[in-house]
Amino acid sequence: MKNNTLEPIVPYDWDELEKRVAARMTAKRFAHCQRTSVEAVKLAEQYGGDIQRAKIGGLVHDYAKQIPDADFIQAIHDHHLPAALLDYGNAIWHGIVGIYFIEDELAIHDPAILQAVEEHTTGAPEMPLLAQIVYMADFIEPGRHFPGVDDARAVTAKSLQAGVLFQLSHELKYLVEKQEPIYPLTFTSYNAWVRRIGHPADN
Ligand SMILES: [Fe+2]
Ligand SMILES: [Fe+2]
Repeated sequence: MKNNTLEPIVPYDWDELEKRVAARMTAKRFAHCQRTSVEAVKLAEQYGGDIQRAKIGGLVHDYAKQIPDADFIQAIHDHHLPAALLDYGNAIWHGIVGIYFIEDELAIHDPAILQAVEEHTTGAPEMPLLAQIVYMADFIEPGRHFPGVDDARAVTAKSLQAGVLFQLSHELKYLVEKQEPIYPLTFTSYNAWVRRIGHPADN
């Protein structure tokens, strides 16, 4: 009996999923996806999340990261997504628009996994547990080396929700520092999370 089946979440097994994901990206990015999957499983174990969905969501979160811009633009039109998305680029598209490629090419239609992928670039005001797990796994997996990553790991080890707020704050600071445009949902997400769990000592 095969023990790596992913059914009914994915209609084929783990080896096949890895093969399909690897075929769409560089070896370096695939290694990041594998580490994110392992980290997501750890967080799911710690915080009571769905292990199988964390493992799959972590692996596929960047599935669309190397899809050409022209294909994203086509998908934005085909799926009648907000035209405002066209003002942004791959950094936003590979999550929000990437889910359509995951559905079409990987035959994954699980709403919780798709939502986790969709929200991994901007966060969201209300993120379900699985979305929080994939969002944080992507940020703190062992291959990450940005300044502050150790703080991010320490905060997330104590509270997954505090980790989410940490990452949203980090992302905004980073984008402002580089004078990059910011997708409005990132602000909306930050506001919701900072109101929910910011400054716990003041509450
Ligand atoms: Fe990503
Ligand atoms: Fe990633």
